[in-house]
Parts: sequence; C-alpha cells; structure tokens
Amino acid sequence: MIRAIRGTRDLLPPDTDLWNRVEDKVRAIFARYNFHEIRTPIFEDTQLFSRGVGEETDIVTKEMFTWEDKGRAASEKSQSVTLRPEATAGIVRAYIEHGLDKRGTLQKLYCLGPMFRRERPQKGRYRQFYQIDAEIIGPPSAGSESPARDAEVLEMLATLLDELGLRGWTLQLNSVGCAADRVRYNQALREALKPVVHLMCADCQRRAETNPLRVLDCKVPEDQPIIEKLPRISQYLDEPCREHFAVVRAMLDAVGVPYTLNERMVRGLDYYTRTTFEFTHGDIGAQSAVLGGGRYDGLSESLDGPKSPGIGFAIGEDRLILALQAEGVTADAKLDAYIAPLGAGMNAHALKLARELRRAGVSADLGDETFRLKKSFEAAEKAGARYIVIVGENEAESGEFGVKELATSKQVTVPRAELVAHLSRTN
Ligand code: HAM
Repeated sequence: MIRAIRGTRDLLPPDTDLWNRVEDKVRAIFARYNFHEIRTPIFEDTQLFSRGVGEETDIVTKEMFTWEDKGRAASEKSQSVTLRPEATAGIVRAYIEHGLDKRGTLQKLYCLGPMFRRERPQKGRYRQFYQIDAEIIGPPSAGSESPARDAEVLEMLATLLDELGLRGWTLQLNSVGCAADRVRYNQALREALKPVVHLMCADCQRRAETNPLRVLDCKVPEDQPIIEKLPRISQYLDEPCREHFAVVRAMLDAVGVPYTLNERMVRGLDYYTRTTFEFTHGDIGAQSAVLGGGRYDGLSESLDGPKSPGIGFAIGEDRLILALQAEGVTADAKLDAYIAPLGAGMNAHALKLARELRRAGVSADLGDETFRLKKSFEAAEKAGARYIVIVGENEAESGEFGVKELATSKQVTVPRAELVAHLSRTN
C-alpha cells in the first residue's frame, strides 16, 4: 500500500471545515487592515534561502528540500532549487523583482500556503506544514521603520486570535537590536560562556562557538541556572533601538494588548532586527509557538534590493488548528437542508427543488428515490443537516412540503414560496 510520505499528512473533513473557517476569517481581517494577497512560487533558487534566512541556521544547514533541477534542453543550465521553508524571503524577492518599492507606499502583503522543512516529525511539527504569512515592507519614507507598524501588526494578531475564539495565547516579546548591537552582544555572550561552557550540554558547547545566541534556546534543565546568569540583550541595545522598542511597548500598553518580555526568545532565522515575537499556547505539546515574526530591516539589502525595512509574521496554521481544537472550537455544521425524494420518479422533482434552494443560497444535500424514509433520515443526520425536506408525489403536486427539524423532530408543512426563508432561519 502506498502511504503519505513521513512528515506529510492528509487534511480531511470535518477538520478542513475548521481550516476553511480560519482562512475565511484571516482573509476578512487582513482586508480590514488593508493587506492584499501575494502568491509566490513554492520553489525558488536555493540561494534565496541561504542568503535570506542565513547560512548558519538549522533551516538552511539541515532542513531544506533541495535538488538540482537539470535543464531540459542542452542550452538550459541546471540550477539548485529548494521547496520554500518559509515565505518571507520569497515575498521580499518578489518585492525587489517587481520594483514594489517604487510604488512609494507601504506594501501590506499576505500569503497562505504550504512550507517544507525536513524536521523530525512530531505533534505540531511536520515536513509539509501551512503558514499564514503577512508582511509590511516599504521604503523608509513610507514609514516602514516606524514602531507604529510593529504595534499595528501585533494588535492585528491579537484581534485575529480573539475573533477566532482562541483564548489561551501569550505574546512573548523581545528586541534583538540592530546588526551592530548583536555583534557586541554575541561578543559578550562568548566572554561570559568561556568559564562555564564546559559545564553545559554538548549542543551548548557547540553553539557557544558557532552561534552563542542559540545557547539561550537550550531546554536542558541543568543548563538553566547558567543561562539565567548570562548577559541580557536589552543591555546591549543602542539608543535608537532602545527607544524604538520602548515606543512599541508603550503603544501595546495604550491599546491594551498584553505581552510578556522574553529576552531569551531566539528566533531561528538570521534576518531579524529589533522587535521579535512569538505567540505561544499551552495546549499544543512541545511545539508551543503558534506563530512567530519580527522586523527585518536589512533583508532587502542583503538580497541586493533597495533599503526597505519591514516587519511580518507567520502563523503555523497546523498549530493554530491544534490549539483551537484543544479549546473545543469547531466549525459550525453548515448544511441547512437534506432533500429526500420519496418514491420512484421523484429524483427529478427533488433535484429541481434543490436547484431552487441552492440558487437562493440555502445549502442542501440530496438523497435518492431508492432510499426508504428511514434511510433518508439517517443520511440527513449523518450529513449534519438542520432540516429534512420530503419530496413525494403529493408534495410535488400540491407544492407544499413536509419539513422536519432534526434536532427537535418538529414537523411543519411549508409552501414552496416560503421554503427558502424557513430553511435559512438561524434561530
Ligand atoms: P518561523 O518561526 O520559522 O518563522 O515559523 C513560523 C511558525 O510556523 C512557527 O511559529 C510555527 O507555528 C510554524 N512552523 C514552523 N515550522 C513548522 C513545522 N515543521 N511544522 C508545523 N509548523 C511549523 C518564519 O517562518 C518567518 N518567515 C516568520 C516571519 C514572517 N517573520 C517575519 N515575517
């Protein structure tokens, strides 16, 4: 038997109803905040990610699905291509390629779709997973550097999660400063780690050499007292970065979006500057980050583009769904009516009625004239219909239909002209 590849999965109904509800809500809210959709390819030039996300990151060193795409004609060169592990690099590439900076305004862009990372699969961690990604990017003259953008993005996320009905989220907030701040901070971490690193786990010993920031991400209990005593990034922010972060926090306070400062939060991508954040949730296992994001003021330039500061985030949709389900949120069953033809020759009548109802916006499923009444009722129950409408010979002739509400077993007779109103009642 052929099975789905390890780390990939099929999304089935009724789960997909919840996925669709989330995506409808996301699109509606993004529109309210003036974001517009961008669709970029699922595979890109490998260099985009090695340069954009960072040569030293876990994503680039071990998680990318990369292959050599041989040209079809002798004249076509072969090229290293990679399934996108994230969306930001591709969006910034498209921004540069199409000269979107020349529009002179802020670009508020979003995309939904699958991402690919060769990680060790577990609950909430897959090799094909789905992100809901949004970015604000533009020339500094359009206000792209303003802390107001950071606050707007975070407020939008809080609204989005609230409106989806998710309760148990925490916003973890940090500032990683600018590139110069991080050089000084990394230096300080190296110094502080020197006398103690031999007491730490093997991973930390390696990270202390290659990328000391990642030591902060260590989960080994024995290492925690050492990590707690390491220097803090906030002590190494220069004055403009300190001020920028203070304004972001003041604006969140002003609009009442709660957050926790977490100076140990290390994001797994190298492009971040200044504000970084994650929204975590307690009920989704070890992978507690439902979404992550931050500022990337130098990303465009590192991809040979114009100076275009930006900020954005990606929601892990798989994890968002897990969190919603853990809180008991489900998609409402939406089927209004099950049309049950009763007796030979009634299929055409039932189809005609279903056509009228569906065209008027009523959701309807259709049975078959070979079903006995009992079977039609069972099918209507299974379909999750609110009402069953019987279409027998008498009904077709008289134009009055027996309509039964399945939850209450209340049955009434409804004239054809009143059916749409009756079946779309939402009480
Ligand atoms: P990230 O933190 O790598 O950031 O991923 C964002 C979210 O995607 C995570 O918080 C998680 O919910 C989800 N995610 C990541 N890997 C997996 C996986 N293997 N299985 C399931 N879910 C996963 C980014 O990707 C940045 N591009 C976000 C961003 C946008 N920053 C600025 N703009």
